[in-house]
Amino acid sequence: MQTTTASATALEEKIKNRTARVGIIGLGYVGLPLAMEFAKAGFSVTGIDIQESKVSQLNRGESYVQDVPTDTLRKWVSGGKFRATSDFSVILDLDTINIAVPTPLRKTKDPDMSYIVSACQETAKYLGPGKLVILESTTYPGTTDELVLPMLEASGWKVGEDFFLCFSPERVDPGNPQYQTANIPKVVGGITPACTQLGALFYAQALEKVVPVSSTRVAEMVKLLENTFRMINIGLVNEMALMCDRMGINVWEVIDAAATKPFGFMPFYPGPGLGGHCIPIDPFYLSWKTKQSGIEARFIELAGYINGQMPHFVVDKIQDALNDHSKPLKGSHVHVLGVAYKRNIDDVRESPALDVILLLERRGTRVTYSDPFVPTLRLDHHELTAQDPIAMAGQADCVVIVTDHSGVDYAAIVERAKLIFDARNALKNHPSPKIVRL
Ligand SMILES: NC(=O)c1ccc[n+]([C@@H]2O[C@H](COP(=O)([O-])OP(=O)(O)OC[C@H]3O[C@@H](n4cnc5c(N)ncnc54)[C@H](O)[C@@H]3O)[C@@H](O)[C@H]2O)c1
Repeated sequence: MQTTTASATALEEKIKNRTARVGIIGLGYVGLPLAMEFAKAGFSVTGIDIQESKVSQLNRGESYVQDVPTDTLRKWVSGGKFRATSDFSVILDLDTINIAVPTPLRKTKDPDMSYIVSACQETAKYLGPGKLVILESTTYPGTTDELVLPMLEASGWKVGEDFFLCFSPERVDPGNPQYQTANIPKVVGGITPACTQLGALFYAQALEKVVPVSSTRVAEMVKLLENTFRMINIGLVNEMALMCDRMGINVWEVIDAAATKPFGFMPFYPGPGLGGHCIPIDPFYLSWKTKQSGIEARFIELAGYINGQMPHFVVDKIQDALNDHSKPLKGSHVHVLGVAYKRNIDDVRESPALDVILLLERRGTRVTYSDPFVPTLRLDHHELTAQDPIAMAGQADCVVIVTDHSGVDYAAIVERAKLIFDARNALKNHPSPKIVRL
């Protein structure tokens, strides 16, 4: 390894012999699983979060992240390998600091960098020689060198010599049983070659495969390419669904048949709209940034528009289906099955179910919901409590499947419901004249 300074050599040694004290700022869906992997690899890990309630919950050994079993967390807490705090001064004693704080959009669809800025300001206060800082939050290309680096260098320490700075995109897919933090290849790019080398060495201790790239900007852009690819392909297939609807063609059958092509095609599926903290948001970080260079990200804007229309399309289709049963939408009871933004997870951030429910309520519909992962659902002005899906199927004028969790007794739903609108093709194997598909 060609690291030159004494700080780099000392840090390299600590990483290799796993005595480096690891810090993770932001203990959510990304930060907590990462913390667990480094604890498992033998490091002493300190998690830092501004939410006191999360900190105390974690120190009691109780997990609030579905992908981190409470038993695993408890093992590392009681074994002294993991602790949480809201006191940033612990950074003084840490060797590595990963930042995994939220990067939402403002209402204007501009990046909200306030969480990154605040976490970096705290890090800068306690920065010192021999520390490795890695930003993991998804963000626009240029964030690490234009925004984070000046904040850290304001401390008087020099990057690549005293401290080391990288960007490494987080690719975790909550609820995915096959790919989790440890076996998803980790891309990392540093400000200087020494930063990249130390970043790669660090991740290699706990994760199966590390992919070093030449700069922080490349690493930032990798994540945006991945998520923009998904968003645009989902937009394309949603537009296909709108076309097929007009032409009376079953879009699901079309996709399944197209997917038999062994090369050059990858299936994406239509649905009630995009959800989650990533796909509906991240591409707008890119389009915001490229506008500054005079480039309009037209694919992103178009896909964003089409995906944004899907909840409206779903509600229109429910209205049509009810009309066919001589029932107006206004005054009807619609039961929404599944409100998480995707199958088998408990996350409702940006979930299209929220839009579908609000649109239905705005049209005078009584809405109930069920979701095995979401016991209560906070909407703009009120809160709903999850109901029993089978009981509700028998009572509602229409059941709408927004999220296709497994473990739901779909056969019983089909048996009891009067009418079902299936936005996910969850009832593919339950043919019935009661079912209307997206
Ligand atoms: N959730 C995913 O599936 C996923 C996947 C890939 C990338 N990402 C990206 O990773 C980043 C984190 O996402 P997440 O889903 O883990 O978010 P999250 O909301 O689950 O967790 C973020 C945590 O950061 C804490 N926090 C906020 N500001 C803080 C600060 N200044 N200092 C310390 N803690 C602070 C919050 O209290 C919260 O616990 C985002 O940029 C997101 O886009 C998320």
